Amino acid sequence: MRSIIVNAYGGPEVLKLENVEKPTPKSNEVLIKIEATSITAAATMMRTGTPYFGRLFTGLRRPKVKTPGTDLAGIVEAVGQDVNRFSIGDKIIAATDLKCGAYAEYICIPQDDMIVHRPENISAEEATGILDGGCTALAFFTDQVKIKPGDKVLINGASGSIGTAAIQLAKEFGAEVTAVCSGKNAELVSKLGADQVLDYTKNELENSTDQFDVIFDTVGKLSYCNSRKHLKRNGLFLTPVLKLNVLMTMLFVNPFSKKKLRFSATGLRKKELRIRDMIKIINLLETAKIRTVIDRVYTLEEMQEAHKYVDLGHKRGNVIIKIA
Ligand SMILES: NC(=O)c1ccc[n+]([C@@H]2O[C@H](COP(=O)([O-])OP(=O)(O)OC[C@H]3O[C@@H](n4cnc5c(N)ncnc54)[C@H](OP(=O)(O)O)[C@@H]3O)[C@@H](O)[C@H]2O)c1
Repeated sequence: MRSIIVNAYGGPEVLKLENVEKPTPKSNEVLIKIEATSITAAATMMRTGTPYFGRLFTGLRRPKVKTPGTDLAGIVEAVGQDVNRFSIGDKIIAATDLKCGAYAEYICIPQDDMIVHRPENISAEEATGILDGGCTALAFFTDQVKIKPGDKVLINGASGSIGTAAIQLAKEFGAEVTAVCSGKNAELVSKLGADQVLDYTKNELENSTDQFDVIFDTVGKLSYCNSRKHLKRNGLFLTPVLKLNVLMTMLFVNPFSKKKLRFSATGLRKKELRIRDMIKIINLLETAKIRTVIDRVYTLEEMQEAHKYVDLGHKRGNVIIKIA
């Protein structure tokens, strides 16, 4: 089968397309023919080996796992003798995390890993595209804050993978949403449901006097200190991006302030919670309550090009690799 192989950390050029042996499922595994995968922030970080502390998990000098890729959608092609949750022909989505392996034509996954059924009306591209951003945003909106109807929520980085999902989820929970993005993405975020749009290239947030119950800085570009004036008395500042100042704020400011900062590494939560979120996101997609924003679709052969594009930091929603 064809698979992307990496032997070193680095730029997109480390992603080589090679022919490798097709895997065979063990007794508790399903063999999946991968139809599509997406380029997640985690996959990019694992390719570059940054931040460096991540190498404690992914390999100190070079990647331990040779085939990258963390999210996928596909069809079950074979099952091991003990598999009872999936059958041949089932459509599925899966997240593989540090085990990776999604940038290939086939993968074997234990049936009790993060793998769930995919309804007929959801394409592989839509399913894999929403998984990372959708589940990350949902995790923040369920575990870190309970949004109530009428809450004022600001989403920064509204045109990215987490941002496009966060707008739609916040609207689904009844919030009044202000989206911060550049002017070229204003129409996109409005169509996703944003009630107001602020242009970050024109400093429109900095110049605004609006206050919010929740600020979700999905891209880690805002400063908590500068954002405090935009938080209501018990407002929450959420970020999925861990930096030294985030850590310092949680340790030394949170205990004394009503305006708290919250970070979560959503991928490190319990498997049961993550499967619950995957199912919820897929249900919302199936019932057209949310949709996947797909920017570009590439092939396995174009993996380096796809990563180059994502590295620019300006994708709209999600970048997909169509495989089958
Ligand atoms: N903690 C967790 O569990 C977790 C999980 C997943 C991801 N993450 C992290 O979350 C972050 C976001 O991931 P993502 O996949 O959503 O990112 P992404 O899709 O790559 O974000 C790209 C978007 O960010 C926008 N953007 C760039 N600079 C901006 C700025 N200064 N202000 C506002 N928007 C800006 C771009 O819009 P323009 O083109 O207009 O600039 C673009 O649409 C990453 O750092 C990732 O590592 C954390």
